[in-house]
Amino acid sequence: MNHTPVMLKESIDLLTIIEGQWYVDGTFGAGGHSTEILNRGGRVLALDKDPAAADHAQSFQGSDFHFKQSNFRDLPHVLMTTGITRIHGVLLDLGVSSMQLSQPERGFSYRNNGPLDMRMDQIGTNAADLVNNATEAELAEIIYRYGEDHYSRRIARTIVKARSIQPIQSTQTLRELLESAYPNKKRRSHPARKTFQALRIAVNDELGALKDGISSAGTVLSGGGRLVVLSYHSLEDRIMKRFLNQSLDLQVVTKRPITPSAHEESSNPRSRSAKLRAGEKVIA
Ligand SMILES: C[S@@+](CC[C@H](N)C(=O)[O-])C[C@H]1O[C@@H](n2cnc3c(N)ncnc32)[C@H](O)[C@@H]1O
Repeated sequence: MNHTPVMLKESIDLLTIIEGQWYVDGTFGAGGHSTEILNRGGRVLALDKDPAAADHAQSFQGSDFHFKQSNFRDLPHVLMTTGITRIHGVLLDLGVSSMQLSQPERGFSYRNNGPLDMRMDQIGTNAADLVNNATEAELAEIIYRYGEDHYSRRIARTIVKARSIQPIQSTQTLRELLESAYPNKKRRSHPARKTFQALRIAVNDELGALKDGISSAGTVLSGGGRLVVLSYHSLEDRIMKRFLNQSLDLQVVTKRPITPSAHEESSNPRSRSAKLRAGEKVIA
């Protein structure tokens, strides 16, 4: 599987691996971070809600590795079912993997034409359902809140007008609509980028899962264990930063977020927006 793990050394250093202890990789993906934990002598309980990641996890074997197809927000329940009780670290590497982005049939990317899907777990409401059924006000709110796009109302109006003629089913149709909705002036990024991000966050309830996931991690970690989170946009980073500042269970390890080296940014463009933060469970 083709995904270059971001800030691999920095994130696993922060987990402070102790041989034989269990670590949760809540976002297994292609398993790059899990592999590094295993190489350093840790044991891994890996989670991912994507069935494709679950298939890939079958190539990992041994008593030091356990995979569960699950949302990381359900970590306490997963721990009950696996019987693993002491967790020395939790890692979350948020967002989508390169595999998800590069497969047109998953519908995550405006660069490929495919069905407007975007569901990591392949169940429930997809992006086409949202785009074709949400009210204009709901769409504008999603695009503004999760995409931080100031043209949200204009975009929502364009979508609603277009779907009254024909339902919007493909990433290409939506991309073309977004291009037409944007004012014709110089832009810093593609007009579809923020709306695609917003729809993906809404379809997968990414921010809700993050809030639940970090809060349960704070509860299940054993004393001295660490929560390490790699985020890719300001909405996620803000949630982790606030959580750490307010938590009674965890103390801040990273006063400022750690960012990728210039070398990593140039060799792996996906790393460019990454921010790494960590907290340590207070020993009771
Ligand atoms: C950036 S990739 C992780 C890549 C991984 N660290 C590696 O080295 O290959 C994010 C992964 O997290 C998964 N994911 C995102 N949100 C999730 C959630 N709430 N619960 C479980 N998995 C999630 C996605 O399906 C995706 O496979």
